[in-house]
Amino acid sequence: MTGGAGGDGSNVSDAGDVLAALFDVRGKVALVTGGASGLGYAFASILADCGAVVIVADRDAERLGKAVSSLAAGGGDRVRPAEIDVGDGPAVEAAVDGIVGDRGRIDIVFANAGVARGTPPLVPSGSIDAFGWDDYNGLIDVNLHGVVHTARAAAKHMKRQRSGSIVVTASTAGLRNDPFVPYSYAIAKVGVVNPTVGPVVLPLGSPQSILGSGISMIMVRSCPGCEG
Ligand SMILES: NC(=O)c1ccc[n+]([C@@H]2O[C@H](COP(=O)([O-])OP(=O)(O)OC[C@H]3O[C@@H](n4cnc5c(N)ncnc54)[C@H](O)[C@@H]3O)[C@@H](O)[C@H]2O)c1
Repeated sequence: MTGGAGGDGSNVSDAGDVLAALFDVRGKVALVTGGASGLGYAFASILADCGAVVIVADRDAERLGKAVSSLAAGGGDRVRPAEIDVGDGPAVEAAVDGIVGDRGRIDIVFANAGVARGTPPLVPSGSIDAFGWDDYNGLIDVNLHGVVHTARAAAKHMKRQRSGSIVVTASTAGLRNDPFVPYSYAIAKVGVVNPTVGPVVLPLGSPQSILGSGISMIMVRSCPGCEG
């Protein structure tokens, strides 16, 4: 044991060492989808600040260019852009394969890209018998299938590496009913919560764990201003 005891009898330095090791991302290769804006930009920024190689993926080329310029000011050449539409499965797989080809591995993936489309059930045009299929399908392609495409493409390499972390940005809309949220959004977030929270409560590497490998999948439940 090193260091002094905390007020609760714990060893402060040891706890700090464990935390530092757990969150040490120096030299790790990370992909953040939807990284040009909002939460994804914040994830990319903290990863770059903490020493990770960060591939910022987004489908909005202009926004992506600005985001990477801004992030590169802190992270130098460790921040790279990737113009990807996560709704396009083969393109996502090719991009992830390309990252592994360039960098040798992929350690961390934030499957974060998401959109808000359509109207909620509280509005007549958002009711179950009236919502628009274009909005519905457009959202599901990104918020549900985009997460599956991203996790699948990364898991192939993480399984071989026997390590890796996949972080999915979910929502309270996936955990409880919310009449202010379109059906498509709620369905997509329920869809990403279920397969994500299951593996993380299992010991990594256990046969039940995702792919039986050392991959952890965790969920970010984000709703600024919401409780729970
Ligand atoms: N902001 C919130 O209140 C909130 C709450 C709960 C969950 N979320 C979730 O957080 C995630 C990020 O949301 P945000 O608020 O930061 O949004 P945002 O609009 O600020 O950023 C989303 C980014 O994703 C990109 N993107 C959209 N479609 C894409 C696609 N098909 N391929 C690649 N990139 C694409 C956009 O160009 C944008 O840069 C989403 O999954 C969202 O559902 C957000």
